[in-house]
Amino acid sequence: MAGHMSVLPYRCYLLALLAIAGAVFTTPATAFVWRKGNQLLRDDGSVFLFNGFNAYWMIVEAAASPSPEASRVSTAFREAAAAGLSVCRTMAFNDGGELALQQSPGVYNENVFKALDFVVSEAKNQGFHLIMPLVNNWNALGGRAQYVKWARAAGENVSTDDDFYTNPTIKQYYKNHVLKVLTRVNTYTNVAYRDDPTIMAWQLINEPRCFADISGRTLTAWVQEMAAYTKSVDKNHLLGTGMEGFYGSSTPDKIQRYNPVAYQAGTDFITAHQVNEIDFTSVHIYPDKWLPQGPQQSEENQIAFMRQYLWSHSNDSMKVLQKPMVVGEFGNNRMNPDFSEQLRNNYYSAVYDTIYRIASVSYSLGGGMFWQLFPEGMENYDDGFGIVLPQNPSVAAIMKKHSDDMRALAGRA
Ligand SMILES: *[C@@H]1O[C@H](CO)[C@@H](O)[C@H](O)[C@H]1NC(C)=O
Ligand SMILES: *[C@@H]1O[C@H](CO)[C@@H](O)[C@H](O)[C@H]1NC(C)=O
Repeated sequence: MAGHMSVLPYRCYLLALLAIAGAVFTTPATAFVWRKGNQLLRDDGSVFLFNGFNAYWMIVEAAASPSPEASRVSTAFREAAAAGLSVCRTMAFNDGGELALQQSPGVYNENVFKALDFVVSEAKNQGFHLIMPLVNNWNALGGRAQYVKWARAAGENVSTDDDFYTNPTIKQYYKNHVLKVLTRVNTYTNVAYRDDPTIMAWQLINEPRCFADISGRTLTAWVQEMAAYTKSVDKNHLLGTGMEGFYGSSTPDKIQRYNPVAYQAGTDFITAHQVNEIDFTSVHIYPDKWLPQGPQQSEENQIAFMRQYLWSHSNDSMKVLQKPMVVGEFGNNRMNPDFSEQLRNNYYSAVYDTIYRIASVSYSLGGGMFWQLFPEGMENYDDGFGIVLPQNPSVAAIMKKHSDDMRALAGRA
């Protein structure tokens, strides 16, 4: 069943013990984010609400630059801080291919790990928390297709990329990666990732889908197994799924309504987030990609759908699952035929307004993260969703206001 238990980090017990023993200890600059019931909390027990951004590219950019320090990672954090943002979602993997962290199963490039160390260290220095997915559903940075390729090359009888969720060898590769990253000792800070409060949460996989079993059962079983494994390695950090939020066979009435164009992606929002070791729910929202093409894609319909989608999932998170919710991604694409800056600003305002209204009800929606932030000079990474804040002052101002509003709301909790 969904957890009613608070997930107090181990470290809190440890600190209490040390205090009793009269030992001397130092408090880290940044405190762990944890949760109690359906709220995210800071170490001191106050409500944690935030405004955040996605920057999947940091591990790549830090590794591709002459040195991590010379990369645009620091600039990105500075520009984000100016908009009041305080949480960054960025990838803790790059599997196979160019500048890979994991070059082949269990074989890691130390220079790329140092690049990731720098990302974590720089987040800490600039006062950010990180949400870090551990693998990708998609091929970008390797993903589960790369794991399946590795297994095939090792002689495993695998047919499709959906074998990622069931093949024992692949599941072991994944667990090995989780262990490797979570026990990594950061070469900049000397702190193991699993002990570093800079990291707010891990996510098992970015946007999982499993067409081999559209009921969602295969994916939920995978979430169960991997969540239990991840928590066996690291009990300090919150754990999320990284899902988009599509409903599955446990709520058939909602499939039609909220999985647009009758998406049967093989995920079940409810059962996957009922897994005890999962601390918060995750949704992404892209009406421009999900609604059927044509008149249904009007600005009005997109905004209405976004509001319904977020309310429906937050109601479920609050009442059914009793866990906090995080909006892992939202954005709109400059390549859409009707794109304009005004339309983007309207959409961002509407998303922030919805997040704020939901958070106001019971502080159970932690915040949202737009997809995606770039500093200047990274056009080659842009998928059409990129925003360079200093070049887009109108949307930056909308973000700043929402950041301030969320902080003020948390202060009134
Ligand atoms: C590989 O798996 C398929 C599907 O599960 C099965 O039909 C086939 O017999 C297997 N082949 C081998 C060599 O084990
Ligand atoms: C969410 O819950 C509120 C309060 O119970 C209700 O008014 C609203 O209709 C619900 N929204 C959705 C989309 O489920």
